[in-house]
Amino acid sequence: MDVIDRYVRLKRSGANYVACCPFHAEKTPSFTVSPGKQFYYCFGCGAHGSAIGFIMAHCGLGFVDAVHELANRVGMNVPQQNSEVANHGTDTAALLDMMVRATKFYREQLKSSPRAIEYLKTRGLTGEIAARFGIGYAPDGWHGLDESFGPACSDTLHRCGLVIENESGRRYDRFRDRIMFPILDARANVIGFGGRVIGEGEPKYLNSPETPLFEKGRELYGLPQARRAIRETDSVVVVEGYMDVVALAQHGVENAVATLGTATTPAHVHKLLRQARQVVFCFDGDAAGRKAAWRALESSLEHLVDDRTVAFLFLPQDHDPDSYVRKLGAPAFRQLAAEAVPLSDFLVRELKSRTDPVSAEGRSRLLADAKPLIARIQAPLLRAQLVRMLAELGRVAPAELESLFGLKPLARRDRTSAAAPRRNTSLTRRVLRIVLQKPEWSACIPVELLPVGDPEADALRTITHAFDHGELPAGRLDMVVEYFRGGPHESLLDAVYRELEGERTDEGSMEAVFVDAMDRLRRHGLSREIAALNEKEKVAGLSADERRQLAQLLMQKQKLASLGAKGQPH
Ligand code: GTP
Ligand code: MN
Repeated sequence: MDVIDRYVRLKRSGANYVACCPFHAEKTPSFTVSPGKQFYYCFGCGAHGSAIGFIMAHCGLGFVDAVHELANRVGMNVPQQNSEVANHGTDTAALLDMMVRATKFYREQLKSSPRAIEYLKTRGLTGEIAARFGIGYAPDGWHGLDESFGPACSDTLHRCGLVIENESGRRYDRFRDRIMFPILDARANVIGFGGRVIGEGEPKYLNSPETPLFEKGRELYGLPQARRAIRETDSVVVVEGYMDVVALAQHGVENAVATLGTATTPAHVHKLLRQARQVVFCFDGDAAGRKAAWRALESSLEHLVDDRTVAFLFLPQDHDPDSYVRKLGAPAFRQLAAEAVPLSDFLVRELKSRTDPVSAEGRSRLLADAKPLIARIQAPLLRAQLVRMLAELGRVAPAELESLFGLKPLARRDRTSAAAPRRNTSLTRRVLRIVLQKPEWSACIPVELLPVGDPEADALRTITHAFDHGELPAGRLDMVVEYFRGGPHESLLDAVYRELEGERTDEGSMEAVFVDAMDRLRRHGLSREIAALNEKEKVAGLSADERRQLAQLLMQKQKLASLGAKGQPH
């Protein structure tokens, strides 16, 4: 509840809380949070889940990050892998706080600068959009921040990258007389700024330096603002500039984000493919644009997933997304995005144009160029398709090509099948195996939904309780087992411990199994509640309230089932 309240404004309604759904556009609230059940559900779009699920969906975080985020929210510390990172924690909080204050300062300054306001207007932006992106203005002069915040803040401002220190130790504002674009991370913390000159001038954009908060190759500008639209369209458009993102949003294309003046990195692609099934990279139609697109392609290869599409959109000459959408409007832009060239086509087309496969020499060059690229693809079906396309072009048999490329068969990385342990392992056993290794994850188990009279479920209840009360050491399997020695769960835990000893576990698949198990638990829980109500209906009949409850449960179950069938976000 508190978790969700931080991101969405909740209003009380009976036993529940309601709000406008953060996952789809709506005017009347159908997003419901049940504090009792620790569960949210949207009657409009069917989004649903636990607090942890909410953070995963809303912030686009992986399960582990979401656990950390949730733990931070409630002031709990998830033990870190190393103490260096942990020490960073408190420091980071101070820096983040300062970034919020700086954002407010720049926002205030914008209000009193008619020149800056006028500039934004000439770029076609309304006050509403400027507010949505937190756009501000850094005043001219050298000590705006120091004068406003006082000397006590000087060090923090320096570590935030907002003030610069010269050789003689004098400090001054990094951003002067610039339009300020705050850069938010996935959790909507301000971690940096981009500052644009008003009108002409060099450098056109000045960005925050790398700081403990800000790592350029990972972040995407505009992600929190775009999240809802990304989810709705299941697609994300990646552009190059701050202004492109803002201008697209101004015209109603809200699912756009930008890399921050750097080339697209594999980290970007990984993050993007978690958000949506379709990622469209948008580039200028000139030679530089094609070069940048090729770099984005190279960054994408290792993260490709079979049920997801990476595609490339090339704008007409002399346009960037900002100018294009302003001149031709959102429908025209969307049309271009819909016609974007899929990665496989772009790859083959580029290789073809570079190597001219009309001769045996040209064809072998094509294959030689293709080899290292194909070797990086981990998506088996897509790789097979590309092998087929290239084999045809290179005039070899696909099987021959595979052996020429030295390709080994790829296991399907299906999150439920490959990652799951032996078939006949029960759901609670699977969860227990994971929780013994990751006791901190027990915070996410809806204990009230665990079956009764199941030994694994009983052990899970005990472990969860112990962890909730701060009694369990995290991350040390043997210590967890020792902790329960002499208790009623001793032999079960010993057995599971022995089972795990011989296995190599990888965190990714553990996470996948866990998320899947939580989903199943919820589904089973719903089924039990439904069965109980059905039973009561037969015996004693249902009150109006209970009938409504039954209808809601049935609807939730249906939504869960259909979402489950579509598969979880990557
Ligand atoms: P507008 O001229 O405001 O429309 O900017 P734009 O978004 O069209 O900028 P452009 O295509 O020139 O650059 C794209 C992105 O590259 C910008 O959003 C910046 O992140 C980055 N960039 C552009 N110019 C500079 C510069 O002079 N220095 C740095 N560090 N980055 C820049
Ligand atoms: Mn531009």
